Amino acid sequence: MMEFVEFQVDSPLYRQYFELRNDVLRRPLGLSLFDEDLSDEELSWHFALFEQRVVACVMLTPLDEMDVPTAKLRQMCVCPKMSRQGLGKQLVERVEVIARARGVRKVTMSARVSAESFYHKLGYETVGSSFLSVGIPHVTMQKLLQVMSPEQS
Ligand SMILES: CC(C)(COP(=O)(O)OP(=O)(O)OC[C@H]1O[C@@H](n2cnc3c(N)ncnc32)[C@H](O)[C@@H]1OP(=O)(O)O)[C@@H](O)C(=O)NCCC(=O)NCCS
Repeated sequence: MMEFVEFQVDSPLYRQYFELRNDVLRRPLGLSLFDEDLSDEELSWHFALFEQRVVACVMLTPLDEMDVPTAKLRQMCVCPKMSRQGLGKQLVERVEVIARARGVRKVTMSARVSAESFYHKLGYETVGSSFLSVGIPHVTMQKLLQVMSPEQS
């Protein structure tokens, strides 16, 4: 059974999650997450879909924004064998519910252009023009989270 889990950096799940991120998001680019500044990890929220192992994951980092409480969505990835089965959509939607409950009103991100349509389908809009990050084209995307009425929550 597929479980939605949140965990901390000292959890055994974190290691699997970190490996999936490295395998999907860095190794194909000839890079390693182990070489990066990981100081935000402790301050971030870590989420995964788990079925015997971590099969999809994402990280949300609360930002110090003065106007709207904002969090940055990062490190979104799905195990390649399980892509295009709705896992990414399910994970983002579940994380948005938690973020909203924690007071986040805007989610922002640097999205790979190759995944832009995926995020568009989830209601994210592209802001500005593309730029390079980790050597590949990215765009800034964002979404305002609707405040739920008591009946909806
Ligand atoms: C991009 C990614 C997270 C999408 O997750 P997924 O589980 O494969 O996507 P889903 O099955 O939930 O797709 C939801 C919808 O988005 C569409 N979609 C998914 N990936 C897409 C892509 N790369 N381009 C265009 N559409 C895409 C699906 O067809 C589906 O559309 P539908 O609702 O009309 O059927 C995943 O493929 C992935 O990990 N890719 C490699 C790493 C990466 O690029 N991460 C994003 C970094 S910003």
